[in-house]
Amino acid sequence: MGRMGRALARRLLDTGHRVAVWNRTPGRAEDLIRAGAIEAPTPEVASANAEVVFSVLTDDAAVAAVLGDQAPRLPGTAAVVDASTVSPETTARLASLYEGRFAACPVLGAPSALAAGQATLLVAGPPSLLERLAPLLESISPELRRCGDDPAAALVAKLLGNYLLLGGLALVSEAVVAGQAAGMSDPALRDLLGALAAPNLRNRLDDLIAGPHEGWFPTSMGSKDAHLFTDLARSRGRHLPVAELVAQLYAEAAAGELAEADVAGIVEVVRHRAG
Ligand SMILES: NC(=O)c1ccc[n+]([C@@H]2O[C@H](COP(=O)([O-])OP(=O)(O)OC[C@H]3O[C@@H](n4cnc5c(N)ncnc54)[C@H](OP(=O)(O)O)[C@@H]3O)[C@@H](O)[C@H]2O)c1
Repeated sequence: MGRMGRALARRLLDTGHRVAVWNRTPGRAEDLIRAGAIEAPTPEVASANAEVVFSVLTDDAAVAAVLGDQAPRLPGTAAVVDASTVSPETTARLASLYEGRFAACPVLGAPSALAAGQATLLVAGPPSLLERLAPLLESISPELRRCGDDPAAALVAKLLGNYLLLGGLALVSEAVVAGQAAGMSDPALRDLLGALAAPNLRNRLDDLIAGPHEGWFPTSMGSKDAHLFTDLARSRGRHLPVAELVAQLYAEAAAGELAEADVAGIVEVVRHRAG
């Protein structure tokens, strides 16, 4: 019942599904319970009579803690669908723990987009399982991209997508800092960037130019994802100089006062380094 878990539960309720929820810290689902969800005391109870279990958790450690590392924590035959952004290696481990009943479904999009049925779902898993899950996933969002039979492939796609967001924000931050230093007005900058920036950056242009960096995707998570991307490349023998620098910038943001700020707050790190 973090930002994304709550949005997913909301979408499931809105599309007519029966939903049981669990969160490590209880009491974070009051509005969903009022809307018809049942709060379970453990993941095992939440999944006991479920057809499908969705997990949406912070990182690799959280996913291992909730779904199991050495052995599957959730008994039964329910399909297990992890929507967290984690390493492909963690996903591969889950696929072997929940053999034949595991799919990965990381999400591209903000919590508000997920709740409104407008996020992009990157899904991968055994074909027969995906066939069974298709109506449910399509009810969550028609923007469904199939990434193949291997669940880890969906995480590779997700990490590439997030790198385009995180690297793009760093790049546009430099354009903002240089444009402002050169005397461009904020409206002129907004107009130019609105025309030229990639579509995945457009909803953050106002924030990049003038703040206040109060968004839905904190720099701590941006740093996690930038590092997952460089780890992915490095573990395949690829050294990516721009991505290494981008990861450093987000790590710097996450280590300081910007940890809870939206990833657009990266502009302040760029501004600081720019002198
Ligand atoms: N925010 C976005 O825009 C966005 C977009 C796409 C994908 N994502 C990905 O979606 C995932 C969730 O993101 P979010 O924004 O929803 O994060 P969030 O609001 O911080 O929620 C994180 C959730 O993970 C739980 N958790 C963390 N560590 C745990 C542990 N060791 N054991 C059990 N539960 C644990 C938290 O429980 P507590 O409440 O008890 O702390 C909370 O329910 C991340 O992988 C993120 O990268 C986020």
